[in-house]
Amino acid sequence: MDNALRKFIEDMPKVELHLHIEGSLEPELAFKLAQKNGVTLYKDKEKTIPFESAEELKAAYKFDNLQEFLDLYYRGMSSLKTEQDFYDMTMAYLTKAKSQNVTHTEIFFDPQQHMENGIAFETALNGIHRALKDGEEMGVTSKLIMSFLRHLPETAPEGVERAYKDAFETLELAKQHLDKIDGFGLDSSEAPFPPAIFERVYEEARKTGKPVMAHAGEEGPWEYVRDALDILKVDRIDHGNHCLDNEALVQRLVDEKMGLTVCPYSNLRLNHTTDFATDTKLTDMKQHPIKKMLDLGLKASIHSDDPAYFRTDEGKGGYMTENYLAVAEALNLSRDDIVTLARNAIETSFMSPEQKTAKTQELDAYTQRADVFQKYVNQVGGEQARTA
Ligand code: HPA
Ligand code: ZN
Repeated sequence: MDNALRKFIEDMPKVELHLHIEGSLEPELAFKLAQKNGVTLYKDKEKTIPFESAEELKAAYKFDNLQEFLDLYYRGMSSLKTEQDFYDMTMAYLTKAKSQNVTHTEIFFDPQQHMENGIAFETALNGIHRALKDGEEMGVTSKLIMSFLRHLPETAPEGVERAYKDAFETLELAKQHLDKIDGFGLDSSEAPFPPAIFERVYEEARKTGKPVMAHAGEEGPWEYVRDALDILKVDRIDHGNHCLDNEALVQRLVDEKMGLTVCPYSNLRLNHTTDFATDTKLTDMKQHPIKKMLDLGLKASIHSDDPAYFRTDEGKGGYMTENYLAVAEALNLSRDDIVTLARNAIETSFMSPEQKTAKTQELDAYTQRADVFQKYVNQVGGEQARTA
């Protein structure tokens, strides 16, 4: 790739809207926390073979599909026990984000899984929240989105003993902390759990006045994107790739300026099915639909999803810069495409109108400065410009 475009992407101020904080837990930190807390991380679901090192854990980050990833992701989370562990995980992510010029981030957390692991809702929430406050001091603003796990029921059957809290119980806990929770989402295995299952809890969640969103059209068909709009009445769609299978839906999303938070490395590493009829998988970033989405006028943007798990070929974490660089390279994106992606993220974020204006101005000023620099390079030649 052109060095100027690479540098433009690296230094560009970025907004992240789709990040599972537990998916930012790097293998080294997961392993360290597990050792500290006396937790064994297992290679298999049956919990018979332990991972011996962080390297071994990292080597296991090879997935054929969403479910294989989720199985390991939930096991990785079991290393988190104390409020400080949640703080340390979140701070590690924010430090990395800041180093990549992410200036605002909207992150998900999965309290139902932590509660299943015996961790109080407040332990997870307070640790993450404290780090987000410190992150703001570092210059990274944020929103915290509580996700419902779609493999758990909206309301648990009565009289059945269980370790988990259902979605309604979790929403009740969240309602006690609306000063720290900025919205509600829906994640985990998608295909077997259509949006309609969560109609009532979303209706209740919307009464808080906070924005709601849902993963849709990642593993599920385009109808799930439609149902997330019609039944859950979402303010943003996470992923949304399969909207491309229905022209009328695409037009509706364009007309409604609906945000789609697209995650390229996630799609690649999970062998995203691009065509259900022929079972065609996304196995090369060159097949990624993000350019097509932009050309159709969709408000799509680029995010990292689970950066510690969805890594580059060189083994680096797949954070924001890695995702932008990968699609820019594979799809030959122009600088205008890159700026459109960054602008779409600002526009479809849950920042206040004033904050959005400030971020847009910051992006415009950055682009103009890059123009001036490029003109100078063209005049004096690359070598001299670099050493100036
Ligand atoms: N998809 C669905 N649920 C998730 C993901 C994902 O990529 N990451 C964490 N939970
Ligand atoms: Zn996700």
